[in-house]
Amino acid sequence: MILMDGKSLSEKILDKVAERVKNLERIPHLAVILVGDDPASKIYVANKKKAAEKVGIKSTIIELPYETEEKYLLDKIEELNDDFDVTGILVQLPLPKHIDKNKVVTAISPKKDVDGFTPENVGKLAIGLEPYFYPATPQGIMMLLDEYGIEIEGKNAVIIGRSNIVGKPMAQMLLRRNATVTICHSYTKEIEEKIKTADILVSAVGKKIVRCKMGYKNSVVIDVGIHRDSYGKVTGDVDFDYVSPSCGYITPTPGGVGPMTIASLMYNASKIY
Ligand code: GUN
Repeated sequence: MILMDGKSLSEKILDKVAERVKNLERIPHLAVILVGDDPASKIYVANKKKAAEKVGIKSTIIELPYETEEKYLLDKIEELNDDFDVTGILVQLPLPKHIDKNKVVTAISPKKDVDGFTPENVGKLAIGLEPYFYPATPQGIMMLLDEYGIEIEGKNAVIIGRSNIVGKPMAQMLLRRNATVTICHSYTKEIEEKIKTADILVSAVGKKIVRCKMGYKNSVVIDVGIHRDSYGKVTGDVDFDYVSPSCGYITPTPGGVGPMTIASLMYNASKIY
């Protein structure tokens, strides 16, 4: 079993991004909007800021209170869309319940949509055009698969989770590379049977869901979910000790997909349209 070291690949990518930023005519500027005080979101945003600093990308965090009205947020995005200095806009999710997430995401200029979440970028990905940006987590996973020389064409890819952030774009990106893709979710029956068909498994749920032996000894297990267990220890969707002896490749948590997401986002944030 080979451990897929996202931490070390992410460092290599960040070095490349830093080099690229140094040679740009303009300094990229990422604006991050955080609404409310979700503790996990605060940590994610702080990590994004730290990574941006490391690669020479300017970043501005706009912290808004939980009670912020949708209209205020939409106006703020409009202002950032029109601000020439700002080259990337990211609205940290989840948003408070009284705000329509899809309305907010749609308001972002596709050319500044470093998350790749706007309908234009999602649509381009779906119909086989080049989006301005690919969503960070699936893009980071593709980088990791390519780094380890994992063949994708013709392989069975099983994705657990159908979020707009990971599951759906992951499916599109694997489909583009000619994988046969199965998406599992909370209504899927006999999920273990599906998992066993996977050459490549991507789990993005946020709770311990993968607790079975893999069907193929060369299979690849990508664990996206990150949460704390009842002892407060950071863990993923995959029962690592149980699953790892039955697969060929596996990502650790932490140190797998998490750092790749950040590196992939910085790669996006270094692009100026
Ligand atoms: N919340 C969890 N993951 C993400 C992400 O990739 N982008 C944004 N904007 N919010 C998130």
